[in-house]
Amino acid sequence: MASSLTPPASAPISALPTLAHIRKDFIWGVSTASFQIEGATGEDGRGQSIWDVYCRSGYVADNDTGDVACDHYHRYQEDVALMKALGIQAYRFSIAWPRVFPQGTGAINEPGLAFYDRLIDALEAAGIEPWICLYHWDLPLALEERGGWLNRDIVGWFADYARVIGQRYGKRVKRFATFNEPGIFSLFSRSFGARDRSADDKLHRWIHHVNLAHGAAVDALRETVPDAQIGLVTNYQPVYPSSDKPEDVAEAKLIGDYWNRAFADPQYRGEYPDLIRDAIKPHIQPGDMARIHRPLDWFGLNHYSPVYINADPNAIVGLGWGPKPEGIPRSPIDWTIEPDAFRDTLIEVSRRYGKPVYVTENGYGSNIEKPDDNGDVIDPGRIAFLRDYITALDQAIAAGADVRGYMVWSLLDNFEWEQGYRVRFGLIYIDYATLRRIPKASFQWFAEVIRHARGTA
Ligand code: NOJ
Repeated sequence: MASSLTPPASAPISALPTLAHIRKDFIWGVSTASFQIEGATGEDGRGQSIWDVYCRSGYVADNDTGDVACDHYHRYQEDVALMKALGIQAYRFSIAWPRVFPQGTGAINEPGLAFYDRLIDALEAAGIEPWICLYHWDLPLALEERGGWLNRDIVGWFADYARVIGQRYGKRVKRFATFNEPGIFSLFSRSFGARDRSADDKLHRWIHHVNLAHGAAVDALRETVPDAQIGLVTNYQPVYPSSDKPEDVAEAKLIGDYWNRAFADPQYRGEYPDLIRDAIKPHIQPGDMARIHRPLDWFGLNHYSPVYINADPNAIVGLGWGPKPEGIPRSPIDWTIEPDAFRDTLIEVSRRYGKPVYVTENGYGSNIEKPDDNGDVIDPGRIAFLRDYITALDQAIAAGADVRGYMVWSLLDNFEWEQGYRVRFGLIYIDYATLRRIPKASFQWFAEVIRHARGTA
């Protein structure tokens, strides 16, 4: 194995977070996603995904593609060995739908399924619990060509896919998420910030179909895995107005309903949030709300930093975002660092949805990391970030939030969507020229946190 597990000499591993309220059986883990790490996009019968095409359309920085990515498809054993060295209890990954159904529906591709069997074998041998996410954005291209999320038939296609996954892995895997961040892939795909949302009939149809697909997949998983533990992974974060002007305040409330509650509310509470209910109504058929609102076991939270909203269309940058206030620390990729917002969000989602909360992603992105002269990657910014966010999590538990686990995004540096490989989120550095894995200082630090939290330090 190429990786060195010796801690870099200058690793600043002394500053641990507060862990006073975290129980010994708390689950520590890391998360990844198929398209972002696997590579091998043309192997073993995998069909095309929409991201294979986006990568060739000038949309991604440096025209990066997922063709090789971290080559996890071939190096998963090394990656699982690194997870074992990290000491985690759980690993959340996603299945590439086009590996299982190259055309999205119809014929099943056995070699694609066999890859995840091998991965699960390795995880089992390492004593790490697999958490499967069915959809982390790599839609089969063939389904996009049939209308994708705008075609109500996708509800059945997704349920068929979920059933195959349940049948195949359900004896060994019990934790399932239907979707990763439906708010992000839905709103971004509809150019959300740049248009009159109330008039975007397609956006509302899309949202409703994703929700119906979730409900149908939950039923398919329950049929095939009676003891499954199922949840949704949300991108829930505070949506603040950029100023106290009434129009900014109103806009932030509206976007908050789209961003945070358009999926979580119908799935966990059986109703659309107030400010978007009327817009969705034309797409709701009799019985739909009950089809969406199926019993769930846990709530997944991906959290990075708050969103700031400005109502003035000229001030909008990207997805309805306004300028961020001055004076708040930011990561190298300009995301504000606000652990108190994380604490408050954990308290809010725990109360609002009434389920055990698992933090399914949290992490720190950088576009300036590289190995030093000794070949070590020392990342004190990430360590400070994780320390402050885990301390905020401890505070949330002290305040009554039912938080049961925490997964870092991500195990490895990987394909950061439209940013390509410029932005690194990993506890492990990838040298993309050689695909060598170099555990960063934060890897050693997180291993130490886990040992302390579990009382094995
Ligand atoms: C959320 C997404 O689930 C993941 O795919 C992405 O890489 C991270 N956030 C970082 O932006």
